[in-house]
Amino acid sequence: MWDAMGVIMKKLDMLYEGKAKKVFKTDVEDVYVVDYKDDATAFNGLKKGTIVGKGVINNRMSNHLFQVLEKEGVPTHFIEELSERETAVKKVEIIPLEVIIRNFSAGSFAKKLGIEEGRKLLIPTLEFSYKDDDLGDPMINDYYAIAIGVATREEIERISEMAFKVNEVLKKYFAECGIELVDFKIEFGRHKDEIILADEISPDTCRLWDINTHEKLDKDRFRRDLGNVEGAYNEVFKRLGL
Ligand code: TMP
Repeated sequence: MWDAMGVIMKKLDMLYEGKAKKVFKTDVEDVYVVDYKDDATAFNGLKKGTIVGKGVINNRMSNHLFQVLEKEGVPTHFIEELSERETAVKKVEIIPLEVIIRNFSAGSFAKKLGIEEGRKLLIPTLEFSYKDDDLGDPMINDYYAIAIGVATREEIERISEMAFKVNEVLKKYFAECGIELVDFKIEFGRHKDEIILADEISPDTCRLWDINTHEKLDKDRFRRDLGNVEGAYNEVFKRLGL
């Protein structure tokens, strides 16, 4: 039970449990509650672990960045932070696309193209993956997305425009904190007549490097067994002044 937006709100049944979050219904129309876990997975759930305190950091950080983005004119699902791990969000219909923006070569891009990690790209790139765990989230293009009915041309254009805007705002914001935004994944949802930013933005979903040393401060430390995973999440949290 919380007092959110001046309304007494009750958490009801769990709607969905994902790899890193649980989503609950509430007794308020149009409002869900997201609950962030410490569970971490990689390689489509093959690797499993715990990053102690991650849920608290990702909740706070995502909410903070969503508010920064809202101020810059990007609509998001954020309503109100309810506790260390819980946030009230607008109920959306998630568009099953992982929208990935890259500023530097890294990860699957580096591997696929044989381009060393850390090379600055001449322009930011955008790619889509179709969100389907059984298929391993295959990379698709705009035509595939439209052809299989995942989004309309207008929605794809709006999503792309918003994704590049998120990149511009966050690149600058992270740089002011001594962090290079190498790449990130975001998701969008339909809400009333609008497309809004949903899911989360955190070290789970971004590659964040120290701007000078290029030390990895994100989930790659877990994916690649680099050690000091919690330390990296805490460092980002601290640098953002959270
Ligand atoms: P990639 O280089 O492995 O394709 O990842 C690109 C970005 O997307 C990187 O910032 C990590 C993020 N990401 C997720 O948020 N979820 C995922 O399941 C994967 C594979 C990547």
